[in-house]
Amino acid sequence: MPSKITAPMLREMKRKGEKISMITAYDAAFARLADEAGVDAILVGDSLGNVMLGYHTTLPVSMEAMVHHTRAVASSPRRALIISDMPFGSYQASPEDAVRAAVELVKAGAEVVKLEGPYHEAIRAITRAGIPVFGHVGMTPQSVNLFGGHKVQGRNGRGQPVIEAAKTVDEAGAIGMVLELVPRALACEITRSVGCATIGIGAGPECDGQVLVMHDMLGLGEGDFKHSKFYAKLGEQVVAAFKQYSDEVKSGAFPDAEHSFEDRP
Ligand code: KIV
Repeated sequence: MPSKITAPMLREMKRKGEKISMITAYDAAFARLADEAGVDAILVGDSLGNVMLGYHTTLPVSMEAMVHHTRAVASSPRRALIISDMPFGSYQASPEDAVRAAVELVKAGAEVVKLEGPYHEAIRAITRAGIPVFGHVGMTPQSVNLFGGHKVQGRNGRGQPVIEAAKTVDEAGAIGMVLELVPRALACEITRSVGCATIGIGAGPECDGQVLVMHDMLGLGEGDFKHSKFYAKLGEQVVAAFKQYSDEVKSGAFPDAEHSFEDRP
């Protein structure tokens, strides 16, 4: 089995030009499959609010939900690095809040915590507490109301605030950062200028790695996003399987003798 991926290894992978693969997962079953596939990092994203719980945004996702799903993903030892999102409201008010929330996620099994935006003090305080931090800049979904939707950020000469945010996150000591929905050239410039690893989603191929939301890439969700790619259409297969099962129950074809128990002689 290849060696366990640790937080310090991400900078090393960046240095060597070795691309980093990351995928979201929210439960033990899919975390095991991602690990088996050799994915480097599993993100317990607060996107679980959208894809698992049916919310329109990530804003209602609670600390309790993040702890619950982190515990499931981390229930077995994983080769992949386990990163958990800090939910909206858990780190914005003060670095003290941020440390408390990060500790809770680590106790649930997270090896790294991720927060959105240039929260320099929070990143430093969590890191001082011995917890590696991942940043997230560009389109940060917890600020969806400020942006007026899930829109590409830093277009049309407005890249400077994204560059500044990335610099702040890097200088604060983050081990990596997600670059979400930013033009390719901007992501490339940021990737070259920061020491930590950049993981893109809708940010082009020059990032140090890529992340996709599991449901989007497996065809399990309702979305068809330009930044994502269908690696499977599992939704269609699931509907076909459910339909066949339902039809067989109604016709009496299931369960047959093979799937029934007889009295022992
Ligand atoms: O919550 C999430 O899934 C994320 C990814 C979009 C990077 O933050």
